[in-house]
Amino acid sequence: MCGIVGYAGSDRAAPILLEGLKKLEYRGYDSSGLAVVSGPEIKMVKTKGRLANLCRLTDDGKNLDGSVGIGHTRWATHGEPSDLNSHPHISPDGRFAVVHNGIIENYLELKEFLTARGFRFLSETDTEAVALLTEYYFSGDMIDTLQKVANKLRGSYALGVLFSQTPDAFYAVRKDSPLVVGLGKGANYIASDMPALLSRTRSFILLEDDEIALVGRNVVRVYDRNKEIVPKEPFEATWDESAAEKDGYPHFMLKEIHEQPKALQNTIKPHIKNGKIDLGAIKPTADYFKNIAGIDIVACGSAYHAGVVGKYFIEELARVPVGVDLASEFRYRRPITGESRLTVIISQSGETADTLAALREAKRAKSKTLAIVNVIGSSIAREADEVFYTLAGPEIAVATTKGYTTQLAALCLIGLYIADARGAVNTETYAGLAGDLLTLPDKVNCVLKENVGGLQYLSSVHHGATHAFFIGRGRDYAAAMEGSLKLKEISYIHAEAYAAGELKHGTISLIENGSLVVAVCTEPALAEKTLSNIREVKSRGAHVLALTANIGQKFAADADSLVVLPDVNPLLSPVLSAVALQLLGYYISAARGCDIDKPRNLAKSVTVE
Ligand code: G6P
Repeated sequence: MCGIVGYAGSDRAAPILLEGLKKLEYRGYDSSGLAVVSGPEIKMVKTKGRLANLCRLTDDGKNLDGSVGIGHTRWATHGEPSDLNSHPHISPDGRFAVVHNGIIENYLELKEFLTARGFRFLSETDTEAVALLTEYYFSGDMIDTLQKVANKLRGSYALGVLFSQTPDAFYAVRKDSPLVVGLGKGANYIASDMPALLSRTRSFILLEDDEIALVGRNVVRVYDRNKEIVPKEPFEATWDESAAEKDGYPHFMLKEIHEQPKALQNTIKPHIKNGKIDLGAIKPTADYFKNIAGIDIVACGSAYHAGVVGKYFIEELARVPVGVDLASEFRYRRPITGESRLTVIISQSGETADTLAALREAKRAKSKTLAIVNVIGSSIAREADEVFYTLAGPEIAVATTKGYTTQLAALCLIGLYIADARGAVNTETYAGLAGDLLTLPDKVNCVLKENVGGLQYLSSVHHGATHAFFIGRGRDYAAAMEGSLKLKEISYIHAEAYAAGELKHGTISLIENGSLVVAVCTEPALAEKTLSNIREVKSRGAHVLALTANIGQKFAADADSLVVLPDVNPLLSPVLSAVALQLLGYYISAARGCDIDKPRNLAKSVTVE
């Protein structure tokens, strides 16, 4: 969702804010704006459209004086993208400016409250209520004022607030929306995430829910809800600054696809020691895993698809029942869980609103919780009982790639550990899989070296498709789900995934001459079955692109196009299929001229319901 950034220092704030916003643009890009304290007043520039418009209007920040400021890049929730609805929002007396990420759920109630007291709203946003409330509650002390404002708000918010009479500092407030404070020398910052600030600092503190920070040039003070100062221990970010740069690739997505061998290596290697899976800091003992009655995997988007792969993997190896739920469903369906069940929460960002709510629901029901998260210190990582960090590094492209494949790796490591703890896997299979996991980075490298050309060519052939059907059985079905999402989210081609065996129950009626069917068939035991389905759609005119592994020759005669992936243990094949399908989605979108890193209507981190 929206990205916010703030700066208090001695340099001109506007160019620094724009630099931060450029790195946050993946969070929202329908409008942007910034405000700085300039002399006795707040100056603000905001505009509809991409950040480039704001850069133009401000001459890259050069025409705005002031060394304290806040900036925002928007993903609209309340009110269409327009100049007026863009952030910041300023109070009627001009003394307070606010940028916001999240949703103020009681905004209509607040609007009534403020309107009855003579305030007039200029925009359609929920955020404007915060600016107005700040003016209404202003008591002379900003911490006290913001505390009163926060007490009135329901929903989720990360706020940056400027006050014209504190020209050396600004304020930040947080509840259920991500916000970090960056500590520099003679300058301090806030941002929605760390990569936005890595070129400026590596030292960060995290704000907890309901905390308010005063961020000044030479001081950062954090207050709790009782207005007491909270001591904070800074931590050093290990992420590489280049993570927030494209490094010569045309898009972050392509860069991140190519980073997968390293990301997988970083995620897998530390957890396999002398052939044994070592889950590191995760506390539950083998005895705990031996006795669990079941596992619920809960996530959104691609992380949910990773969960579906995880179900196939864990059930087959550990013989323990695994349910997979969309977090937005789990949180409201009164799930049957409790102490005997483990809830595995998967989230790249660690901030997805529904996933966070699902985690809280699982904890409320007394289930043990284990989160698979990429962003260190994120809300889900902090609230789960146990955390397994995928070490993918920052992911910028909206469509996840390395975030997803490292989640698969994490699930395989955890699944194999559980299988061993339950005595469900023999020594040979265990050792074989542990070894195979270690070879995954090389295998992904092979896909990137050997399959790119073919996939690029196929993409040039199929980029005009209007519909695509992804089919597969078992793990291949799970892989097909992610492949279909990748294609539709960045190319806008309508794509759906179906369990191949289900085609006959309705979907086959959609197949006509030239329909594109992507058949994922890496599973030797199910290859013949999928082959029959390929023949069924072919005989109704479909063009079949088959993605297969060492069983490729079976399909050669029937598929119109064949992509043969490197040999790998079939239990791990979804990782290789994912990489190939990412490339297919990427190159088809590139051929269609789509804005791959910023697909329409989407945002990377979905911090609202
Ligand atoms: C958004 C992203 C997806 C991601 C999903 C869940 O929709 O575009 O790529 O899979 O959110 O995000 P999470 O950070 O919880 O994994």
